[in-house]
Amino acid sequence: MKGDSSISQPEAMRHYYRWHAAVYDATRWSFLFGRKALLRQLPIADHIQQGLLEIGCGTGHNLRLLAKWHPNLRLTGVDVSPDMLEQTTKAMSRFSRPLQLFEQAYGAAPLKLTEAPDMVLFSYALTMFNPGWEVAIEQAWKDLKPGGRIAVVDFHDTPSGAFRWWMGKNHVRMEAHLLPFLQSKFRTEMLEICPAWLGLWRYIKYVGQKIE
Ligand SMILES: C[S@@+](CC[C@H](N)C(=O)[O-])C[C@H]1O[C@@H](n2cnc3c(N)ncnc32)[C@H](O)[C@@H]1O
Repeated sequence: MKGDSSISQPEAMRHYYRWHAAVYDATRWSFLFGRKALLRQLPIADHIQQGLLEIGCGTGHNLRLLAKWHPNLRLTGVDVSPDMLEQTTKAMSRFSRPLQLFEQAYGAAPLKLTEAPDMVLFSYALTMFNPGWEVAIEQAWKDLKPGGRIAVVDFHDTPSGAFRWWMGKNHVRMEAHLLPFLQSKFRTEMLEICPAWLGLWRYIKYVGQKIE
């Protein structure tokens, strides 16, 4: 599905996550594979201060792990859903460190960032930007520092038409569309295409560098 055309993509997301935010962390571990593994693979230098911006940060699953592992990393999150951001705020309150959160649709208007990030992370977000995934990738390219990196973990494809249809009903597009565009904009540093649930679908882990 490319989105319910009667409402905008941001509205659809706000509505969808109004009901899913409370059960998100309890359910998503069973199918959003590769998130922790990608975070472990990020080239983060702990001896200097770097900035990471997560787009579609949701309940803060990734921000929490990054806060635990990298005390020096400057964290920023963006999400269009206030209900998801509320969960992030709660979960991050136990870390006594600054965190900047923006409630807005990424790509629609410039973010008021204090500093350009060294890394932009999209974790199971881009396949829900329908329409808007190309704009979001282009915006990340603009937001990044020169030489900065984009990191993506997301659904890739499925051989099952029924599963593709079901994921579409849940706002996810699974047509192997992200990778060629990412590779046309960034210099690929890491790419893994991994099977999930005995090959019912595949997901990608990707890190690319911004080259002017
Ligand atoms: C599947 S969740 C992923 C959350 C988190 N990144 C994770 O890995 O658990 C997708 C998130 O993207 C957000 N999102 C969808 N479209 C967006 C947009 N246009 N701008 C910003 N956030 C968006 C949703 O509100 C949701 O929180």
